[in-house]
Amino acid sequence: MNNNADALVNHVFDDVIRWRRHIHANPDLSFHEKPTADYIHRELNAIPHLEITRPLENSVIATLKGKYVGPVQALRADIDALPLDEKSGVDFASTKPGIMHACGHDAHTAMLMGAIKILSGYQDRLHGTLKFIFQPAEEIPPGGAKQLVEMGIVDDVAQIFGLHVQPDLPVGTIVMKEGPYVASSDNFNILIKGKGGHGSMPHTCVDPVVIGAEVVCALQHIVARNTDPLLTPVLTVATFQAGDSYNVIPDSARLAGTLRTHNNDVRQRVPGLVNRIVEGITHAHGADCEIEWQSGYAPGFNHPQASQFAREQINAFFPAGTLQESQRPLFSSEDFSSYQEKVPGCFIFIGCGNPEKGAIWNVHNPHFIIDEEALKVGIKTHLALASALINGA
Ligand code: NI
Repeated sequence: MNNNADALVNHVFDDVIRWRRHIHANPDLSFHEKPTADYIHRELNAIPHLEITRPLENSVIATLKGKYVGPVQALRADIDALPLDEKSGVDFASTKPGIMHACGHDAHTAMLMGAIKILSGYQDRLHGTLKFIFQPAEEIPPGGAKQLVEMGIVDDVAQIFGLHVQPDLPVGTIVMKEGPYVASSDNFNILIKGKGGHGSMPHTCVDPVVIGAEVVCALQHIVARNTDPLLTPVLTVATFQAGDSYNVIPDSARLAGTLRTHNNDVRQRVPGLVNRIVEGITHAHGADCEIEWQSGYAPGFNHPQASQFAREQINAFFPAGTLQESQRPLFSSEDFSSYQEKVPGCFIFIGCGNPEKGAIWNVHNPHFIIDEEALKVGIKTHLALASALINGA
């Protein structure tokens, strides 16, 4: 299959563009993707040999059972969009105000549908089963992946792979990072409860602003002084809200932020350190506090075996140099990690940037667009990953 992969991809490309643009124009927010799932289901119904199920109404699982026995391998796409007003200027822009496919999940969905259309033609040479997962709610924890994992969707899966378009990589490139590749993401809310009063009489108050300022600085000691320097997390206080005047000391201050790390021990240990510092400082100054943690996604870990498999398959399908290996894990997060906690897997980035076509904006930006040539690379990557199960491919 690697010799005629480009021809196979070109053969389905009109459909893939149509699917991608339809999904782009009709985006759904996380946990509300039933219309998108219905569309995927409808379009896949026209492809032979598939068994299609909807374990959640906003998900679609398509299974291609081979003629011969063999392992189950999963390929995953996420289908949800973001709460943004699209400003990309494309003529298939979102028809829903305030909702936009600004993370490329429309592309992920269409690429996987294209691969399915090709692979279904190889059912009589397939050794094992290909499971195609269209999952909801990648953008909002607890995430759609976790829901599907808890329903047992990957219990029979030996290996799983997922793709993500990446606008800061030029179209035509593929990047993977063995081992840790994205971070966990846990959020916190801190309420510092002081005592308000007149700004000219601070001695009669317990000033939550000054206490909050001390807390913000002290939290960085966790990064700089309390964690192995090779495992340092990101600890960002992104919100500091207090007061609304020139001369009133407020009753309380609210801080909020995020903890990102690639290490599960660090992930478990840091919240306790945060709580100790916040409680210590607020109590030392006669204030009180409430701290709340919201857990997000686990760190993403590309399994060595699945990474080696992906490396070999991709290198067999693409010219030398197409696949680049990164040494640098990202501090963004991705709910693909929920599958990887259960099953060896590898998550791979597909370049979609091209300044000549205006594809220069990052994901989650209202101007975000992709060079649609990236869809070909994505479909072909899926074929490469699936072809190991196809006799003589
Ligand atoms: Ni995304």
